[in-house]
Amino acid sequence: MQASRFLGGRNPSWAPLVQSPTTQYQLGPPKPTMRFRLPPPPASATISAVAVQTRPLRTHSMPPEKVEVFKSLEGWASEWVLPLLKPVGQSWQPNEFLPDATASSEEFFDQVRELRDRTAELPDEFFVVLVGDMITEDALPTYQTMINTLDGVKDETGASPSPWAQWTRSWTAEENRHGDLLRTYLYLSGRVDMLMIERTVQHLIGAGMDPGTENNPYLGFVYTSFQERATFVSHGNTARMAKEGGDPVLARVCGTIAADEKRHENAYAKIVEKLLEVDPSGAMLAIADMMRKKITMPAHLMYDGHDPKLFEHFSAVAQRLGVYTADDYADILEFLIGRWKLEKLEGLTAEARGAQDFVCGLAPRIRKLQERADERARKMEPHSVKFSWIFNKEVVL
Ligand SMILES: [Fe+2]
Ligand SMILES: [Fe+2]
Repeated sequence: MQASRFLGGRNPSWAPLVQSPTTQYQLGPPKPTMRFRLPPPPASATISAVAVQTRPLRTHSMPPEKVEVFKSLEGWASEWVLPLLKPVGQSWQPNEFLPDATASSEEFFDQVRELRDRTAELPDEFFVVLVGDMITEDALPTYQTMINTLDGVKDETGASPSPWAQWTRSWTAEENRHGDLLRTYLYLSGRVDMLMIERTVQHLIGAGMDPGTENNPYLGFVYTSFQERATFVSHGNTARMAKEGGDPVLARVCGTIAADEKRHENAYAKIVEKLLEVDPSGAMLAIADMMRKKITMPAHLMYDGHDPKLFEHFSAVAQRLGVYTADDYADILEFLIGRWKLEKLEGLTAEARGAQDFVCGLAPRIRKLQERADERARKMEPHSVKFSWIFNKEVVL
């Protein structure tokens, strides 16, 4: 079942499962007497068609003695990283941006109507990108899991007092508001097919992600630095488009989320900066390693049960609308090279100097490749794709 089934809506043949006299629930292996009165599963109720493992398996690539680096940085992390979190009392909450369900029914309905009026003129293609961003946020359990695979910084108990674990839990708690707010806003707009969105989220969390970080916190923090800035750029651009499209509240929603992402980017980039200070060659090699692998977006395994190329198609729309583009990728790389002062880094091993040359010369190469790809795309007939998230309407890629 998906949440939207319990909130009214379409497709009564898939009505919420309620316990009926003929339904018996039992724990343990099914017995011959066990009967479920379930409707036949739709074609989409299969395991994600997307391969779960997408790279050669490489794990625990950080030499075990380097765990000490992270142990020795605990005091530093408490002093410089944890303060970048916002106290809960000072944090915004989704409720502040949404119609007030505690107001009188009339007032609440008016607020919902206003929301729907504001979103009425926003184009379908904008919703494709916003839904993709929301789904990316909603797969948050995967990201917390991913960070907790990193040796030396993982949360060893689930409530570990280590500053690394404290950061990860509180970061997750801050991020949790992003998906909640976007999801509720999108639901109330009525512009998107919540059932398909919910299925995509379920597929995505089931599929996981494979960023190639190998349980290695050097790689993990390079990845999160890049990734947080990518989400900052993307939410910033949807904020601008929402404003231009006539919804200043949605613009504020996306802008507020973007500000969180910026703060998170700052924290992760600060950690890499520190690693470059205490272990310049190790950190430089990690940056090059992640850039060679290319930073894959966290939702790269998304699937809605219909379109096996859903992520590719969503990314193409984001690229065309200018919400997140290959140019942004190169910009982020250049920004981080500048922030980490990689060009001026000294005291490197020969191998790390090679990594430095590779990383510092990469952005122009990415831009050139993209120019060629754009050229090829211009010569091709524009084609469009149906997105289940917007009731199978077609959007030009
Ligand atoms: Fe987020
Ligand atoms: Fe984030």
